[in-house]
Amino acid sequence: MTGNKKDIKEAAAFIRAGKLVAFPTETVYGLGANALDPLAVAKIYELKERPSFDPLIVHVDSIARAETLTTFRNKMMYTLAEAFWPGPLTLVVPKSDVVPDIVSSGLPTVGIRMPDHPIALELIREADRPLAAPSANKFGRISPTRAWHVDRYLPGVDKVLDGGITRVGIESTIVALQEDGFRLLRPGAITRNDLLRLVPEAPELPGSSITEAPGMMDSHYSPVIPFMLSTPELIQSIDPERTGYIGLSGPAPAPFKEVRLLAEDGDLSKYAAGLFGAMHDLQHAGLELIIAEPVPKEGIGVAIMDRLLKASFGHSSPFGK
Ligand code: TXA
Ligand code: MG
Repeated sequence: MTGNKKDIKEAAAFIRAGKLVAFPTETVYGLGANALDPLAVAKIYELKERPSFDPLIVHVDSIARAETLTTFRNKMMYTLAEAFWPGPLTLVVPKSDVVPDIVSSGLPTVGIRMPDHPIALELIREADRPLAAPSANKFGRISPTRAWHVDRYLPGVDKVLDGGITRVGIESTIVALQEDGFRLLRPGAITRNDLLRLVPEAPELPGSSITEAPGMMDSHYSPVIPFMLSTPELIQSIDPERTGYIGLSGPAPAPFKEVRLLAEDGDLSKYAAGLFGAMHDLQHAGLELIIAEPVPKEGIGVAIMDRLLKASFGHSSPFGK
């Protein structure tokens, strides 16, 4: 299915009929359902094998539609939405009664974002419904950045709209808003400094933690083979002939069987954009281990390291020591 007008119209009819539609956003592909229909939303949890305590993000095409989902009217919400929407920022705010409990996993809050992708925006507009949509992957696995990732790893979606490769490549920044400030729940392409620049008067509340959002586990984004952060010591102890390497620029530090260099110019956003795609490719390339180059925890590097650490959590080298 392409993302042309006719396909989007058909997909919108599917949404209104309570079916599941995968669609591209600027971050990753989402698995969408009508957020106001609890039975449709239940299908998302079932297909993803997602635990019911892990709430979904609701996608909108306008601030007006966002306002129907929340009782919050704080100035900070409008400042951030006007500055970053459409874009990779999810705002967690008190939910209104129209949001079913299954969407928020029983929490009194709801995560809302306006994706920066023409297909996503047109699908919401055409369906005239807000779309509950997690990343379109099995729970705990790598998020999809291409339509074929969804087709291959998440069979059973009623319709997949193909918008090519996603531009940002990692999931949105999640921020919880309260009357007296904000907390960063998940790092993304929009950084803590980006937020502080916009709302300098709103203090970042204590307890900001990327582990605070439900569903934020230590382990996530995992390939099906061992995945580790590249270090000089690790490289000494492995067989490069049976290892894949993901890094920024060359040369690769050993003669690996597979090498993916994602940012020859060192641009961390290119690394973020290509990371999940490279992980998808290498997990089925007949390798025994994938290693990835760590980056400084600055700017989008914070989000990249969050994903790399989760993807590698609990993994060890198949080559001993
Ligand atoms: O970029 C993205 O955000 C992508 C695209 C599809 O929009 N979506 C995405 O959704 O990453 P998902 O389900 O993979 O991650 C959603 C996370 C949850 O695991 C949870 O941590 C947080 O969002 N979340 C959602 N609603 C929340 C709430 N009410 N309170 C706290 N955290 C919430
Ligand atoms: Mg996800």
